Amino acid sequence: MVFYKCVVDYSKCKNCGFCSWYVDCPGRDLCVDCRVCYLGCPNEAVVRVVDNSDRRMVKVKIDGESFHFPERITLRKALEMIGYTFSKLPFGEGIYAPCETGGCFACAVLVNGKVSQLCTTPISDGMIVDLKADFTPVRIVSGFMPHSVGGVGTPWQLKSKGRYIEVACFAHGCNFRCPQCQNWVITYGNNIDPVTPRLAAEKLSLLRRTYGVDRMAISGGEPTLNRDWLISFFRELKKLNSDEKARLHLDTNTSLLTRDYIDEIVEAGVTDIGADIKALNIDTFIEVTGVDDKILAKFYLNTAWDAVRYIVDEYSDRVFLGVGVPYNRAWMSDEELFEIGCRLANIDPNVQVCLLDYRPEFRRRDLKWPGFLEMRRAKKILEEAGLRVVIAQTRYGHIGP
Ligand code: SF4
Ligand code: SF4
Ligand code: FES
Repeated sequence: MVFYKCVVDYSKCKNCGFCSWYVDCPGRDLCVDCRVCYLGCPNEAVVRVVDNSDRRMVKVKIDGESFHFPERITLRKALEMIGYTFSKLPFGEGIYAPCETGGCFACAVLVNGKVSQLCTTPISDGMIVDLKADFTPVRIVSGFMPHSVGGVGTPWQLKSKGRYIEVACFAHGCNFRCPQCQNWVITYGNNIDPVTPRLAAEKLSLLRRTYGVDRMAISGGEPTLNRDWLISFFRELKKLNSDEKARLHLDTNTSLLTRDYIDEIVEAGVTDIGADIKALNIDTFIEVTGVDDKILAKFYLNTAWDAVRYIVDEYSDRVFLGVGVPYNRAWMSDEELFEIGCRLANIDPNVQVCLLDYRPEFRRRDLKWPGFLEMRRAKKILEEAGLRVVIAQTRYGHIGP
């Protein structure tokens, strides 16, 4: 068995502070190879190296049975050593662990009676792990704030009113590894206490009343990773906001929004969905999302396109749908953009599409931020494909339909 640890390559480190301020590290000198700093460092300055140092054995009780493991590993690694497997998908074989960075708590179990993530929790001597226990789901959510522009699922008429139109919060952890992630501190940061769905719903409802708005949104990271948490969150939000004006808005990368999941969130009270479609071609999708497992990437891409069609076909009368298309000419050709437009127009020419100008961010500081004229040109391509409601986000504000 080979063990690793993460160390900083100071020739690349820009001292940005992310790994010290936003990562809940179990200890640099005692690295347990949780990989959070490795995955989240924007400068790829954290490297994994083989760790041959001596390790004493520790005893961990899992579902009543005792096992001995070498110290300084995560619970996930310990479980893998005794034959458990892990999966990025919520169905099929393996324990579901979509973010692997401690944010979503989809992989959480009870450890010494406390809800803890398998992917980042280090083992310790005498630890008691209960893999089958029931508990109230939690996850890390932050950034509770009012917003004046809204997200992909915010109708155009409400945007740019020059006042707050929505309150929102952001769920940590994502199943994608987008090199140009536009919200990477939230995606990879994990040093905030997780919250129950009830607490998150109460905070958002209080904000709604404070700012006098009707729309309440959750974005990310990726909110759909922890399904139990999300469904319960929307149910609680609906209970606390039972008036007809209340709008419950989900912004998602759409990769896990299967038909039954859509049915369940609508039943839980969701009224507005902002669904990102990252690409049409699988190679573009892999480049944009960093999901390098082709089978997984195909599942994500197909699920996203199917979700758009399903929401239009089944829920047009109850749910507002906005589709987001991240744009940068570094990955999106005019031909593919036109084809995306044709395919969306074929589903519904009146669906609102928001073209998002992706700026240089995270590990793609080399990108050129699309300018106003470039975004206007890209918007025209989608309109020529038959779409009637295209918004282009630019650094100077939105260009409307
Ligand atoms: S996140 Fe990376 S660049 Fe930032 S301080 Fe840590 S090692 Fe350095
Ligand atoms: S965050 Fe995880 S991988 Fe990084 S140094 Fe700490 S324990 Fe090691
Ligand atoms: S997979 Fe472990 S917290 Fe998300």
